[in-house]
Amino acid sequence: MTTSLVDEPAAFDPGAPDASDDAVAGPARRDRAGRGRRKRRLVDQPRVPITLELTGFAHGGYALGRAPDGRIVFASYGVPGERVVAEITAEAPSYIEATVVQVLEASPHRVTARCQYFGPGYGQQCGGCQLQHIEYGEQVRLKTEVVRDQLRRIGKFEDAPVLPMLGQERPWEYRNHMRFTVRRDGDVGFMQRGTHRFLKIELCPIALPQVNRALAGVQGRTFGTRQLSVRVGEHTEDELIQPTLQWRPGRTRRVRSGQPFLREELLGQRYRVSASAFFQVNTRQAEVLVAYALDRLLERQPNVVVDAYSGVGTFAALVAPHVDRVITIEAQTAAGDDAEVNLGQLRNVTRTVGDVARVLPGMDPSPDALVIDPPRAGVERAVLHAIIESTTRRVVYVSCEPATLARDLRILVDAGFALLEVQPVDMFPQTQHIECVAVLDRPDPRIYGRG
Ligand SMILES: C[S@@+](CC[C@H](N)C(=O)[O-])C[C@H]1O[C@@H](n2cnc3c(N)ncnc32)[C@H](O)[C@@H]1O
Repeated sequence: MTTSLVDEPAAFDPGAPDASDDAVAGPARRDRAGRGRRKRRLVDQPRVPITLELTGFAHGGYALGRAPDGRIVFASYGVPGERVVAEITAEAPSYIEATVVQVLEASPHRVTARCQYFGPGYGQQCGGCQLQHIEYGEQVRLKTEVVRDQLRRIGKFEDAPVLPMLGQERPWEYRNHMRFTVRRDGDVGFMQRGTHRFLKIELCPIALPQVNRALAGVQGRTFGTRQLSVRVGEHTEDELIQPTLQWRPGRTRRVRSGQPFLREELLGQRYRVSASAFFQVNTRQAEVLVAYALDRLLERQPNVVVDAYSGVGTFAALVAPHVDRVITIEAQTAAGDDAEVNLGQLRNVTRTVGDVARVLPGMDPSPDALVIDPPRAGVERAVLHAIIESTTRRVVYVSCEPATLARDLRILVDAGFALLEVQPVDMFPQTQHIECVAVLDRPDPRIYGRG
């Protein structure tokens, strides 16, 4: 049921796992329209309906069908196994993008979306979630299959050791960070996916209640800004609302804003997180992910661990009590400053502020184990080569983009690492986004590395 046979179209980007992650450049996702022929998006034109049998599921949250002319169709808001009518929204020589507008035969996994704004991103729909119409257990199963499929197609792993995705117990009210748009009249909402029109939002069911309370406190009451970032600490109840808001006269209910940072806890460890620094947006599932990554990192009893793309020191703080030495590498100054606070008490941690591609090659001491958690663009070649050249026996690769993960794993495996397992963790229920932890090992790095 999950045969994605061709390249998928360039995914819409309904929101980065954490927008702070977007700030960093890296190798671009390849143009999936390919061969220089660009996709033609059909905006504000009469939509052409086609009837489809949906037979698969692809990265980006699309159900797959086949058009009468043989082109593959990437259908938003469908479920594999359904017969639907979909309207064409974009066309390329080898594929079509479409949106399901009528379900002729429903999948048993189809459910009624919880959110009043759920849908393709026009009219009164936001477009930020792609999967609310699919029962949660099936979402998790389909996303696991996407990981397997990406590893097969991009990484050329015929039978990758992908474990079933770890789903979230309560897959709603989880986002600790939302970015809203503020209109001149004070209305607060989202820019709709695809059309980029403004949609006023009263409540977002994937956001933590505290985020929704802040939204209600600001709605219609502020002016002078176009952007509003609301972050909360799920375990600490701290709030970080940026920018410092100005208030319309006569409006009484106000929220505090302009805080420089918040504090959040993972597995009992407290972190300071500055306004521009990355932090996982799903605190409860971050604890699942971090616990798993740490287990696998410490399994081979390393002495020297490198935490690359270390952010505010998320992994380093929890690893440090178990090893001789931890070296963190982080490029962003604000996250580096947070890490100084978060890791300051830990005498066996050395912090490096800089580009991993510059800091890691030839690092002395060479690490026994590495945790890498790059942005969606994945790991640069120079970094992969530095890992291969090092004495590292174990690599734990945390990724929020299966396509670049697959690409990078292939390079590491071709250089002598064994891919032990890939554990997807659902950090983004109701959306198409996928997070994975991949574990790689090599018996004796001296055969391959500098040793
Ligand atoms: C996905 S976040 C992970 C942060 C951290 N590991 C965590 O879990 O909170 C990626 C981090 O890598 C940093 N980063 C991006 N490109 C980098 C580079 N070339 N060198 C060093 N750090 C980089 C970003 O600033 C960001 O903090």
